[in-house]
Amino acid sequence: MRQSTEADVPAMLEIYGYHIQHGLGPFDIEPLHPEELKRRRKAMLKRRLPHLVADLGGAIAGYAYAAPFRKRPAYRYTVEHSIYVHKDFQGLGIGRQLLSALVDACTVAGCRQMIAVVDSANAPSLRLHESCGFEQAGVLRSVGFKFGRWTDSVFLQRALGPADGALPDDHRGGTVQAGD
Ligand SMILES: CC(C)(COP(=O)(O)OP(=O)(O)OC[C@H]1O[C@@H](n2cnc3c(N)ncnc32)[C@H](O)[C@@H]1OP(=O)(O)O)[C@@H](O)C(=O)NCCC(=O)NCCS
Repeated sequence: MRQSTEADVPAMLEIYGYHIQHGLGPFDIEPLHPEELKRRRKAMLKRRLPHLVADLGGAIAGYAYAAPFRKRPAYRYTVEHSIYVHKDFQGLGIGRQLLSALVDACTVAGCRQMIAVVDSANAPSLRLHESCGFEQAGVLRSVGFKFGRWTDSVFLQRALGPADGALPDDHRGGTVQAGD
């Protein structure tokens, strides 16, 4: 596992494009433009959040990254992540390795909670997350519409590092702005 580079973008697009068409994983419906994936990647790196690829001797077998859970600043220690494994490498343990590496990298980055939002019919992803220590925190009914049907989203949560057992190292009081 290593940090992604811009040179990995075409491989990541191919993986994501396949899953948009065939799977329950992505919440995008149309293929992404390369510039959009580059922009998303740069935005995460700017926030010092991990963006990882599984590099098997030059072949990109999957990728995973963390993004802010929600934009408002009080959520700044909580991330939501995404993970995609190339169709030819699924079921071989790559997802597990990637997610474990992402959990470790998010912990080092000072995040305290990690959230996955998974389609309730996506058994491999639910299993993967539970095997990496995530617990189901709730189900939102019929919030998505894909492949001609309404979809439920399962929220899964995992505490990181000291979690809520200690204040963040850079705690600044979290002043609430008018309009928040
Ligand atoms: C979900 C996904 C990331 C899992 O990665 P993977 O490399 O295929 O999974 P792994 O081989 O590491 O297996 C991880 C766990 O899931 C289980 N699993 C894998 N495929 C499974 C399947 N088809 N059905 C049930 N469980 C499955 C494995 O048994 C393993 O469980 P264990 O640790 O208890 O043995 C991958 O299948 C994928 O990219 N799917 C399409 C995109 C997607 O849905 N992404 C997630 C969006 S939330």
